[in-house]
Amino acid sequence: MTYSERVLEKIKEHKAGCNLGHTSMVFLALISVNHVLVKVHCERVALLAENAARVLDLDVKAAFFAGLLHDIGKLTLPSGLFDDGEIDAEEYQQIKTHAIAAYEILDDFHLFIALCAGLHHAVYEHGYGLTTEELPKNWPVELKNKVIRIATLVSICDFVDAASHRKSRFIEASSLKVRKEDSSLRDKLIEQYPNKETTIDAVLEANQEFVA
Ligand SMILES: [Fe+2]
Ligand SMILES: [Fe+2]
Repeated sequence: MTYSERVLEKIKEHKAGCNLGHTSMVFLALISVNHVLVKVHCERVALLAENAARVLDLDVKAAFFAGLLHDIGKLTLPSGLFDDGEIDAEEYQQIKTHAIAAYEILDDFHLFIALCAGLHHAVYEHGYGLTTEELPKNWPVELKNKVIRIATLVSICDFVDAASHRKSRFIEASSLKVRKEDSSLRDKLIEQYPNKETTIDAVLEANQEFVA
């Protein structure tokens, strides 16, 4: 079964409310027109986040859909920015807009997933996108914490997937400013996400099936 087939099965299996399954199908249809590499990345991040969430005892459905839709904001940008070529500083500034764009696309329909998408590059130092200050003031603390936990899981899955599959020197393009070969991926993740070792190890373990 291909990743795409597995993702379509999962969308059906999860029977998500509020038309989240339908939104996901429309997203996959749109992203497959011009942004094929982004599509495959989103599919892998969804499956990876779900598998890691299961091990971590987090909400697997939330992890799956937050993973699938985290880069929906890239639909607002030219596909050439995501073809694994080198990007310059100006293009990187353009790419950074995808996090807020994702939030703005989804917030009227799927607020929890919109917040996760808006925060997926904001849960590490020198990140970008929404801030946790923008979480709804009237939400209970547990729900806000859940958004942050799922956004962090998706962020780590995003990082691991990019490191495993992107051909460009993506790490230089990110805020890390370090080369891939400086130290192991796990060390970099721990540097980027302090105190998240359990999550990092669960994601790295779940990622084994995608790099085999
Ligand atoms: Fe992203
Ligand atoms: Fe991503």
